[in-house]
Amino acid sequence: MSEVQNIQWFPGHMAKTRRLISQSLKLVDAVAEIIDARIPVSSRNPELAGIIANKPLIVILNKSDLADPDGNAAWVQYFKSRGNSAITVDCKTGKGLNAFKPAVMELLKDKLERYKSKGMVGKPLRLMVVGIPNVGKSSFINRMARNAKAKVEDRPGVTRGNQWYSIDRQLELLDTPGILWPKFEDPLVGERLAFTGAVKDDVVDIETLAVRLISCLKPDYANLLESWYKVTLRDLSDYEILCEIARRRGMLSRGGEADTERAAAILLDEFRSGKLGRITLELPEMYTEEENA
Ligand code: G4P
Repeated sequence: MSEVQNIQWFPGHMAKTRRLISQSLKLVDAVAEIIDARIPVSSRNPELAGIIANKPLIVILNKSDLADPDGNAAWVQYFKSRGNSAITVDCKTGKGLNAFKPAVMELLKDKLERYKSKGMVGKPLRLMVVGIPNVGKSSFINRMARNAKAKVEDRPGVTRGNQWYSIDRQLELLDTPGILWPKFEDPLVGERLAFTGAVKDDVVDIETLAVRLISCLKPDYANLLESWYKVTLRDLSDYEILCEIARRRGMLSRGGEADTERAAAILLDEFRSGKLGRITLELPEMYTEEENA
């Protein structure tokens, strides 16, 4: 299809990560998976579900401040309907993080009951925090660990170098051992990661990317484009819309032509920072059951 879709993504070294995560899973009670609420499918690694198998999962929809509130609600409902726990958070401000611990306690309530009946009160719950790069995993851990004591020493265990964080007496977090890569082989995934800035701009042609973003925004968010850039989409092509944005912003080259490269950079920046509005590019209803499995 477009040029954007022909990008050679760097290869995912998933084999090592798969091994590291599998080894360390034995050390935890549950997994907390951080995803980007604007692209909840593209910001997940589809292999993860198989790796974590039956471990309880809490899905943390981060960057929910940038995502459509209706989309956030739909995704929480979706994950819950599949037996997972799910919360929406904004790790930039900390909004929603108060719900994390209660959600973990609820997810693991049977285990807590068992501990209690065996007199093992005070045994902390341990969670592995996973997420592809740029979803906000460091921001999440930093916020959660902010008031906690220094990082816990490496535990004697299967994997050396595992980084543990003690949140309080009841909760400990383990940072992902290894790097969890997204599913780069899928061109649409690569494109959406590029929209959000998770893939660096220097590997993509930003004009092509901006035109593709316009195409993705048109069905549900035409009103946001129209009101923010004061353009009327009418029956303009995606490229013509980019030209209109350039003209509206006075971005003209010396010959008076629309400077679409500058307009593309502005559009991408304003989408990423949420200035354009709160936008979700992937909704549960867009995926069939097999794709989601
Ligand atoms: P990572 O460890 O998963 O790679 O991600 P990291 O925490 O470094 O976050 C990646 C970027 O996303 C950072 O922006 C961070 O501030 C931003 N971010 C994280 N969580 C949220 C959120 O809930 N909402 C919003 N709006 N942004 C979030 P950056 O541009 O790389 O750095 P900076 O803006 O902090 O300087």
